[in-house]
Amino acid sequence: MRIDVLTLFPEMLEPFFSASIIGRARRAGIVDIVCTQIRDFATDRHQSVDDKPFGGGPGMVLMCGPVFDAVEHVEALDPRPATRILLTPQGERLTQAIVESLARESRLLIVCGHYEGFDQRIIDGLAPREISIGDYVLSGGEPAAAVLIDAVVRLLPGALGDENSAASESFRANRLEYPQYTRPREFRGMSVPEVLLSGDHGRIAEWRRGQQDAITRSRRPDLMEK
Ligand code: 6GU
Repeated sequence: MRIDVLTLFPEMLEPFFSASIIGRARRAGIVDIVCTQIRDFATDRHQSVDDKPFGGGPGMVLMCGPVFDAVEHVEALDPRPATRILLTPQGERLTQAIVESLARESRLLIVCGHYEGFDQRIIDGLAPREISIGDYVLSGGEPAAAVLIDAVVRLLPGALGDENSAASESFRANRLEYPQYTRPREFRGMSVPEVLLSGDHGRIAEWRRGQQDAITRSRRPDLMEK
């Protein structure tokens, strides 16, 4: 998979994409992530990428020119057609089902918003999928790009060492995870549940399912209705 990220702050994202699972997946050739600075496509002598809103009001609006030029330049770097994504609080809320559908694409192009938002003609003209990562306001789309890309890359074949770990966890099967324990058996008076030390795999699986149901029912009953 190739993922292009168009941003005004590539320095926020590059270290994130170099560490841990994503960094390893890049080095293994599982994903190619390319950050492009939108400001490089500004055309005036001030390198402007934003301007005051027509009609008045607070803040600044991302201009069409640099964003269209950046998208068209980056898309031409690779023959695969890109699924265009605009990160904005007005978008559809990101879910694991959306992450799974994006992980099946061969190329994503993600545009990070800033300021008071995008000129509407960017949305109308580029016809991107608009995505939000949740009901709270970020100062820009970069943390949302980090979230989205992390969630997608870990699903790509070979990205996780253990191919089972993606399949068995939260939101697959609409259940939260069961509690995990590792050594030591006792820590500051707190013990590991006896069943996990029993070696009885049937009882252990049954205990874990019971824990998942209880935790999901108390914290996220909305997941159980699905
Ligand atoms: Cl994608 N962008 C911004 N600025 N705020 C957000 C968001 C995105 N998702 C949730 N809040």
